[in-house]
Amino acid sequence: MLRVALIFGGESDEHEVSVASALSILDNHNPDEVELRFFAVSKDGSWLTHEESVSQLNSIRISGWGDVTGIKGDRILNYKSVLQELGDCDVAFPVIHGRGGEDGRLQGFLDSIHMPYVGSGVTASASAMDKELMRGLFAANNIPQPSYRVVRKHDFINDPQITLSAVIEELQFPLFTKPANGGSSIGVSKVRSKTELSEAAILAFKYDEKILIEEAITAREIECGVLEGITLQSTCTGEIISSSDFYDYDHKYKDSGTRLIVPADVSDDISSKIQTLALKIFRLLGARSYARVDFLLTDTNDIYCLEINTSPGFTTSSMFPILCANSGVSFKQLITRLVISGEQTSQDVRTHD
Ligand SMILES: Nc1ncnc2c1ncn2[C@@H]1O[C@H](COP(=O)(O)OP(=O)(O)O)[C@@H](O)[C@H]1O
Ligand SMILES: [Mg+2]
Repeated sequence: MLRVALIFGGESDEHEVSVASALSILDNHNPDEVELRFFAVSKDGSWLTHEESVSQLNSIRISGWGDVTGIKGDRILNYKSVLQELGDCDVAFPVIHGRGGEDGRLQGFLDSIHMPYVGSGVTASASAMDKELMRGLFAANNIPQPSYRVVRKHDFINDPQITLSAVIEELQFPLFTKPANGGSSIGVSKVRSKTELSEAAILAFKYDEKILIEEAITAREIECGVLEGITLQSTCTGEIISSSDFYDYDHKYKDSGTRLIVPADVSDDISSKIQTLALKIFRLLGARSYARVDFLLTDTNDIYCLEINTSPGFTTSSMFPILCANSGVSFKQLITRLVISGEQTSQDVRTHD
């Protein structure tokens, strides 16, 4: 039986998604194989005790969606007790999405205290989170992707007109704007004109010092999971059909009109091309344990890679666990498998470093 430190919540705008992931894991793990110790991280960065974390999860379950409340007193762990409590566990399972939990910071902390954990290490997490780094790696390795430019906030503030005009000269509308470090479509917009572009850039700069502006591809959205076991294996592919203009935050989490079609209704040839690319990207970034890789598929069968997520949504209705379930690994088995391999992989990595 493995004792698992499930770290969830976090300071990013994807806090609520992470809480929903933790709830799904609480409700669906196999207690004969995995003993869970919960570490809720509130939006202000405090770490709550296991008892308080579970109690908050149980009250959030009633509404189904919510954030962990920062509290004071002995229900908060101080640094010494965080280290002590983590030290009592065999392996950590960070299910924090976005900044602070998916970008290498938490992973670096866990490395420093020699705590084995599930998921990618520091470098892969950081380069998957930062779309400028990720897309640069794609470009250097001939991974097909939408044409994009990176715009920095200081250039934009210095001269918004010149900065955006330079981008418009090189890219075709419609365009997407997005924070370089973001997730769950927060701060992402689709724009059709220069005026809209300026507003969208201002929105994206609320979340980051640099943004990506890229050509919108008219395409279906196909996603593919990668799961590390004895060998690296890709899952089947799945399609997201969103009822909106694009797959934005509300449609990801609040809209029952969004449909996930798993396996995706694409030919074997396309599916296998996407799976091969997903594995290539996983290896290219040096990812570990698991990831979800997102693609765009045009009606002329051109495939573009949008991004790799090293801590994808982990609720029972999230794409990654559904892809795994359709590929023979149930939600329950997935949790057990990830924590066992997390404990082993981290040991291997440390031994060989
Ligand atoms: N170049 C693009 N062409 C078409 N749709 C896009 C493009 N970029 C983003 N999108 C849409 O916006 C969503 C969020 O973009 P993405 O780059 O995945 O950011 P995030 O990290 O916030 O998920 C995608 O799921 C897709 O619906
Ligand atoms: Mg995405």
